[in-house]
Amino acid sequence: MGIERTLVIVKPDAVAKGVAGKIISRFEEAGLRILAAKLVHLTHEQAAGFYIVHRERPFYRSLCAFMTQGPCIPTVLEGDNAISRVRDLMGATDPAQAAPGTIRREFAASIEANAVHGSDSPESAAFEIPYFFDALEISAR
Ligand code: CMP
Repeated sequence: MGIERTLVIVKPDAVAKGVAGKIISRFEEAGLRILAAKLVHLTHEQAAGFYIVHRERPFYRSLCAFMTQGPCIPTVLEGDNAISRVRDLMGATDPAQAAPGTIRREFAASIEANAVHGSDSPESAAFEIPYFFDALEISAR
């Protein structure tokens, strides 16, 4: 609760489709502030490290391959209650289950190619933000 920071990734499917700007606009229109952003093409090792909590899941290898198929755009967003607000804006992990008007419902193709990632808890954000950004790359606003 209160002002939070969260790690959002515009995933390779969304960057490839040319909808990264539209997705980032959704967050800005909701009043979230961009504190950091960059475009990176992850290596397999980098993707595997980011998703290490999922290493026992059947989809882990495929997810890591998907995340390396092209560049993605990790960002740090800040705002009141940012973690749950971002999750509401994204919609359910599976776009088929995502509510109308959510980012995944509009832009995602499948549960794997689901356009966007957002930290699921403060603990996840505390791991995920420094995974991509050091302190000097995150602007206070
Ligand atoms: P994300 O929010 O980035 O967190 C983990 C990711 O794993 C998730 O979004 C999906 O892209 C992917 N994922 C989750 N469940 C499945 C699944 N059942 N099959 C394939 N990919 C999945």
